[in-house]
Amino acid sequence: MNTKLKGKHFITTQDWSIQELKTLFALARQLKLEIAQGKFNNKTLDGKTLGMIFFDPSTRTRTSFETSMTQLGGHSIFFAPETMQISHGEGARDTAKVLSGYLQAIAVRICKYGAGNRYLEELRAAASVPIVNMQCDIYHPAQILADYLTITEHFGENTTGLKLGVSWTHAPNYVRPVSVPQSIILMMLRFGIDVTLAHPPEFKLMPEIVEQAELNAKEAGAKFKISHEMDEAFDDADVVIPKSWGPLVYTQDEDEGVSLIDKYPGWICDEKRMSLTNKGSLYMHPLPADRDKEVTPGVIDGPHSVVYQEAENRLHVQKALLSLIM
Ligand code: CP
Repeated sequence: MNTKLKGKHFITTQDWSIQELKTLFALARQLKLEIAQGKFNNKTLDGKTLGMIFFDPSTRTRTSFETSMTQLGGHSIFFAPETMQISHGEGARDTAKVLSGYLQAIAVRICKYGAGNRYLEELRAAASVPIVNMQCDIYHPAQILADYLTITEHFGENTTGLKLGVSWTHAPNYVRPVSVPQSIILMMLRFGIDVTLAHPPEFKLMPEIVEQAELNAKEAGAKFKISHEMDEAFDDADVVIPKSWGPLVYTQDEDEGVSLIDKYPGWICDEKRMSLTNKGSLYMHPLPADRDKEVTPGVIDGPHSVVYQEAENRLHVQKALLSLIM
């Protein structure tokens, strides 16, 4: 167990050792039990403030980070960039240096492809307080902490040999980032989970992320397979996470992206596909889910689904994260 985490940035789980992540999960379980006991007045972050800058919309991330700070006795500030001097061109370096003088951590959501992670790295280079990634173009690490906690609540803390299917799904109303599937494959493989990733050819993930995932798999002794058949992600799976993402590695043109998504309406998570999975398997999705496009109501509201538990776990893992780093 590694407890020397004060001041540590959280931009990708890759920067955290397995021991550090295990410390975080142990604390998340403890904090979740405190809430079950009705203890909402933990004072760990008494007097401390988290600044949260959202360049992109959010329901779960904003609410769970803000509630985390309330329950830990601290305070959070929501910033819309258009209300800050960022809108007049103030750069990441000055923003980070100034906010470091007031805040004990700076959390940012910035999903613009090719720019989001770069902005976070500029903040990291200049800030003297931890930078927390609330989703960028490459990673969504807080989501994946919640996903892993949820998996361990169903299958136990030793996840070696579990089978996870991550699949692209159809959903043509907008182009979603690739950060969720990328963060899933990176972290789940490190915990020994065998991963099958399925997507149509145009929806490949960033080559450097796939390469890192292959290294993670090798190090953990886990299996990592990429397929262009959706069913392969469901065959014998203990957990499936089917969701849409954009063909952003292939094209950044929004209209071309939407028409490519529309080429594959059959890529939906339905009861027939769930029947390919193992008994007791979990259906997971970070939400928001596009019903009747990504998933049938029968699956998302059915016996395999743990999506609301998964969403709630955002709160518990983020409380643990903020307690450790702030
Ligand atoms: N899963 C997730 O990050 O949800 P929001 O976009 O609502 O924050």
